[in-house]
Amino acid sequence: MKIQIINGPNLNLLGTREPGIYGKSSFETYLPQLQSKYPDIQIDYYQSNIEGELINKMQEVGFDYDGIILNAGAYTHTSIALQDCIRSLKCPTVEVHISNVHKREEFRHHSYLSPACLGVICGFGLAGYDMAIAGILAQQEK
Ligand code: DQA
Repeated sequence: MKIQIINGPNLNLLGTREPGIYGKSSFETYLPQLQSKYPDIQIDYYQSNIEGELINKMQEVGFDYDGIILNAGAYTHTSIALQDCIRSLKCPTVEVHISNVHKREEFRHHSYLSPACLGVICGFGLAGYDMAIAGILAQQEK
């Protein structure tokens, strides 16, 4: 089983970026913990600040992998291109946000991606990525 995690703009700064909202851990610190929790799953990680690069990566893995976990950062609230991409793939995408976007500014309440995703997880910090894996596994067992 193969799962691709994709983080979008500014998420390369996790750990230093607004730690009161996004926590003190970088994704590079968290990833090995996640990989050791699921030794039978190949968990790959990609981050880009560029919308088209996120789409390129999703198209690259979306017909081969079992699921994509996508935190598209602010593109969540702006990108029809990412919604179209999610709809075009064979594998399911789970939308993740570290913060509870519904507790924050109004412009973060709308997601262009949610209608195209298998599910959405927000507000649980980095644990949301773990929950997304559990969600993909549960869906596969159905
Ligand atoms: C975020 C929430 C977005 O609104 C924001 O633009 C981000 C991070 C989150 O993980 O909570 O960059 O996706």
